[in-house]
Amino acid sequence: MNNILSYIKENKDRFLNELIELLKIPSISADSAYKNDVLNTAEAIKISLEKAGCDIVEICKTDGYPIVYAEKIIDNNLPTVLVYGHYDVQPPDPLDLWDSAPFEPVIKKTELHPEGAIFARGACDDKGQLYMHVKALEFMIATNQLPCNVKFMIEGEEEVGSANLATFVKNNQDKLKNDVILISDTGMIAQDVPSITTGLRGLSYVEVEVTGPNRDLHSGLYGGAVANPINILTKMVASLHDEDNHITIPGFYGKVEELSKEERAEMAKAPFSLDAYKKALDINDVYGETGYTTNERNSIRPTLDVNGIWGGYTGEGAKTVIASKAYAKISMRLVPHQDWEEITQLFTTHFENIAPKGVTVKVKPHHGGQGYVTPINSIGYQAASKAYQDTFGKTPIPQRSGGSIPIVSLFEQELKSKTILMGFGLDSDAIHSPNEHFGIFNYLKGIETIPLFYKHFTELSENQK
Ligand code: BES
Ligand code: MN
Ligand code: MN
Repeated sequence: MNNILSYIKENKDRFLNELIELLKIPSISADSAYKNDVLNTAEAIKISLEKAGCDIVEICKTDGYPIVYAEKIIDNNLPTVLVYGHYDVQPPDPLDLWDSAPFEPVIKKTELHPEGAIFARGACDDKGQLYMHVKALEFMIATNQLPCNVKFMIEGEEEVGSANLATFVKNNQDKLKNDVILISDTGMIAQDVPSITTGLRGLSYVEVEVTGPNRDLHSGLYGGAVANPINILTKMVASLHDEDNHITIPGFYGKVEELSKEERAEMAKAPFSLDAYKKALDINDVYGETGYTTNERNSIRPTLDVNGIWGGYTGEGAKTVIASKAYAKISMRLVPHQDWEEITQLFTTHFENIAPKGVTVKVKPHHGGQGYVTPINSIGYQAASKAYQDTFGKTPIPQRSGGSIPIVSLFEQELKSKTILMGFGLDSDAIHSPNEHFGIFNYLKGIETIPLFYKHFTELSENQK
């Protein structure tokens, strides 16, 4: 495309400063104390889309945080790209593990980011990545090179399960009509190894409560004679994996899609260093399901992990006590064909079944969503592939990710279009962790690559007519 590189060069400082301003607003959707900040972020996104040149920009109310909707329709005969992203972020804690304050962005150089990276909560997930789309649109409109129609739908509840977005999508099928959905909320393999995410895992998230005696007890007077909920909970949790690290819930693997030898061989071609992986995490070995590689374990295989566990006395010193209750939060990452509601049910039944006499258990489902996998022969994938070839000089590698964006499968179901996941983050960008960051190289490369997606998608669509 004409002038994209010079446009980026001329506007680089402004592009960075605008993103930094956006990152200063703590839009933590999980914590109601930040309600006004989340709402202000929606406002800021709205203004940025107006400035980029959209004709219609709306803040659409929902039962939760609003959705920012925008569009620029240039010709109804041309294809329409729908961009999705989220302006909410994860809570930043534990705060003491951040080297700089999470909502006071700073630019620092790192080994993987010699050009510098912006450190702030949301830098990569997803404010930085969604803002690439706003700036790419600004470029295309400002230089008269927008080749097709575009719609934006930016939500504020992705990190808490997108419950209200689902309703919005179901109720606004006409408004959201599109030919392809484009999302940057995933990663790529390495700075010089572009990749396109072709799969996401589904999710079932539950909380369990184990109750023993009706009050906390003296662990001497009662110890040994009544069930200790913490002992029981940890035993139950431990039994959810067997010695091969298979999950023991009956029926759990019933619908799991098994990949062919050829597909697994194809996957194994993606560059990966087990040594570098271990070194980056300071672990002396990896751990997981027998019979699968690390990359398979974290993408094409379902998993079960305790995300938090608590109960009893955890303060300073020792208190001799048998707690009345113990709790855990458990996530199950699912693969295509596993239905998250069915898995939640299988988990609940099993967990209730394995509870010994002397305790009662409650399972409370939180949120969930289906997995997603998309073919590499769609026009959308081909357009993305060409765009990366133009800007990286390399064919991107299709890669299935372990993360989840539950709403993506609903998009396909309701809007009948394919989603293309052009992620520009690195695994080491520490999303959801302390010191989250996003490389300046990645940010600018995204802004450079996105307009080429529009161009190729429009051309390939026209050729198909
Ligand atoms: N952007 C992430 C998902 C992601 C990151 C997918 C990197 C692939 C690569 C998204 O914001 C996220 O964190 N999703 C949650 C699920 C949600 C229901 C809370 C997740 O995966 O834990
Ligand atoms: Mn995200
Ligand atoms: Mn996230």
